[in-house]
Amino acid sequence: QAFFKPIQSAAPPSPTKRHTKISVIGAGNVGMAIAQTILTQDLADELVLVDAKPDKLRGEMLDLQHAAAFLPRTKILASVDYEITVGSDLCIVTAGARQIPGESRLNLIQRNVSLFQKIIPPLARYSPESILLIVSNPVDVLTYVAWKLSGFPSNRVIGSGTNLDSSRFRFLIADHLDVNAQDVQAYIVGEHGDSSVALWSSISVGGVPVLSFLEKQQIAYEKEALANIHKAVIGGAYEVISLKGYTSWAIGYSVANLARSILRDQRKIHPISVLAKGFYGVEGGDVFLSLPTQLGRGGVLGVTNVHLTEEEAQQLRDSAKTILEVQNQLNI
Ligand code: NAD
Ligand code: LAC
Repeated sequence: QAFFKPIQSAAPPSPTKRHTKISVIGAGNVGMAIAQTILTQDLADELVLVDAKPDKLRGEMLDLQHAAAFLPRTKILASVDYEITVGSDLCIVTAGARQIPGESRLNLIQRNVSLFQKIIPPLARYSPESILLIVSNPVDVLTYVAWKLSGFPSNRVIGSGTNLDSSRFRFLIADHLDVNAQDVQAYIVGEHGDSSVALWSSISVGGVPVLSFLEKQQIAYEKEALANIHKAVIGGAYEVISLKGYTSWAIGYSVANLARSILRDQRKIHPISVLAKGFYGVEGGDVFLSLPTQLGRGGVLGVTNVHLTEEEAQQLRDSAKTILEVQNQLNI
């Protein structure tokens, strides 16, 4: 406590608003991009960082604290001890191995499952009412692992999923059509990664449904352009990783966007990884994959009844099968 009081209190302390606490586990490229986006967007009263490397962690904490004069007021703390996360409203997990150039996300599974066995139980113990938001890859399988290890109800365990793939999709469509990406509605669902499914009939620009417009005009070459855009979405992360070694900025904004919907109870629809068993004929086990989901303060509020063509529904079931094949080899 400081002896010097620069402000004379003239009024009793004002009633405090509800305190919001976010913990980010993993202070690497992705964790720090998320942390800095959360700070600039004023989403939390308290931001906690946890990592296994104490020096790196303290360095990142101090570096962010030194920006206090330019940011909305947020208490920033860091520790290697999970006790610091106690009472979090939202725990975002980014810790773990990442892909080397050319490596698939599913390849990371063994390394990251054993990490999750150390990370998820203490997180769940210190914040039993929190929402778990998983970002580490392969995100769909690890969201399932986090659900199992936490014992939380499925509405409070989600993966960042194809929120990122969908934003890449919207950017590329917007760039192609020379419009603003925020005016493009378009969903990618299924696995975050190689077997993701583009919902062609979901694409609209400023309310104009793109696919039926193209079909009426018989503009076949534009349909081909859209198919190439989906390929570019799948290849996008590989390209960034081969160029700069990792991806960070887009996932930072994507996760902050999810944090806002949850903590501010926005009831917005996001394609994120949720327990998908029973939706669109997805069977064969408890599998998490991305579906357009309504998010609010309680976590998952519901999954939208978006119309899938038979081909899209089949691709979604194939994507579920790909994830389940990896999941069934796990021993957790
Ligand atoms: P990174 O190597 O920069 O950071 C990982 C961090 O995890 C490191 O700081 C490391 O010390 C920490 N860590 C390791 N073990 C830990 C433990 N037991 N407890 C706490 N922290 C621990 O990697 P990155 O580029 O930040 O990527 C992190 C993960 O996010 C990877 O799995 C990557 O594939 C994934 N990712 C997912 C998406 C997505 O859309 N879901 C996007 C980008 C990256
Ligand atoms: C992404 C990570 C690598 O940026 O999953 O898509």
